[in-house]
Amino acid sequence: GVASKGEYRHFMQKEIFEQPAVIAVALEGRLGERTVPAECFGPDAEALFARVKQVHIVACGTSYHAGLVARYWLERYAGIPVQVEVASEYRYRTVVVPEDTLFVTLSQSGETADTLAALRFSREQGYLGSLAICNVPGSSLVRESDLTLMTQAGPEIGVASTKAFTTQLTALMLLTLAMGRVKGLAAETQAEVVAALRALPQLVSRVLKLDGAIEALSTAFAEKHHALFLGRGAHFPIALEGALKLKEISYIHAEAYPAGELKHGPLALVDSEMPVISVAPNDELLDKLKSNLQEVKARGGELFVFADEQVEIMEEEGVRVLLLPHVHEALAPILYTVPLQLLSYHVAVLKGTDVDQPRNLAKSVTVE
Ligand code: G6P
Repeated sequence: GVASKGEYRHFMQKEIFEQPAVIAVALEGRLGERTVPAECFGPDAEALFARVKQVHIVACGTSYHAGLVARYWLERYAGIPVQVEVASEYRYRTVVVPEDTLFVTLSQSGETADTLAALRFSREQGYLGSLAICNVPGSSLVRESDLTLMTQAGPEIGVASTKAFTTQLTALMLLTLAMGRVKGLAAETQAEVVAALRALPQLVSRVLKLDGAIEALSTAFAEKHHALFLGRGAHFPIALEGALKLKEISYIHAEAYPAGELKHGPLALVDSEMPVISVAPNDELLDKLKSNLQEVKARGGELFVFADEQVEIMEEEGVRVLLLPHVHEALAPILYTVPLQLLSYHVAVLKGTDVDQPRNLAKSVTVE
């Protein structure tokens, strides 16, 4: 039937709030007791995964950011070297494909022209095979790939992608665990992350309860022209995605940097007119991130930190802290996406932009 916003003001808002439910659907029937069986990727997946020595991931826009997260995950948990590239670049260059490389595309629509062209181009490059992680059943990308995993997020109407991204990440963690199992990831780690995945919808629900607090923060952005997003490790792509969301729907210029690069340029931009948003989960890079944040504060920058409730980061003059529930570090990128979506949403609403249909953008770019 015709999509309806129900109680929500915008489709984007509805889709943000659907995330606990659709993440649960994306996991349905795919988790073993303590492992992720390769069969969710098709009957031939187990044999194929056993042969894979490298992975090349190609995508556009938000889907590309999901690919960047997957690189951290696949290298860390499955020990597989990964390259990630935007489709419009990949398809027009000379690509060196090592033996036994799996080609992976990520796409909400399955119809993005550049991604589809990249898949067709890849066929002549001697890959082991292709896998599409996609949200639209029967789309061109799905029809033309050897293996597929559907994200099952349901139709996404808002041009700025939200639930499609978090379900892509969920699917990519399934891929990481399925490949990890084949590549000898410790059974205990597999079981831990599987248990954490089961608890994820519940945690995302808890993060959504921050909506009011994030709406209150958004007033600090409405008059600003620039914003800087910082993250480290697998949260650097989450910072990129946070910046993309803000650009797309609020038209505020935003950049993202891995926090350790601050001193190599962006620090020169920091002043009281440049809000700095940081994701600070409780991982081994936290102390380094904290000292990066001091560098921002020392220059009069206004800081907004999304942090783990178990972390000691104090609110003080110029530093606002919002605490998220503790989560297994493997899944933190999924959880920390959500407050950044809410922030962009509320800033856009304050600015009165067309949230679901931002100017100059299309939901699916089917021509080059
Ligand atoms: C467009 C949309 C983005 C999306 C990108 C890739 O630019 O506005 O939200 O991330 O296309 O789309 P895909 O359907 O391939 O994920």
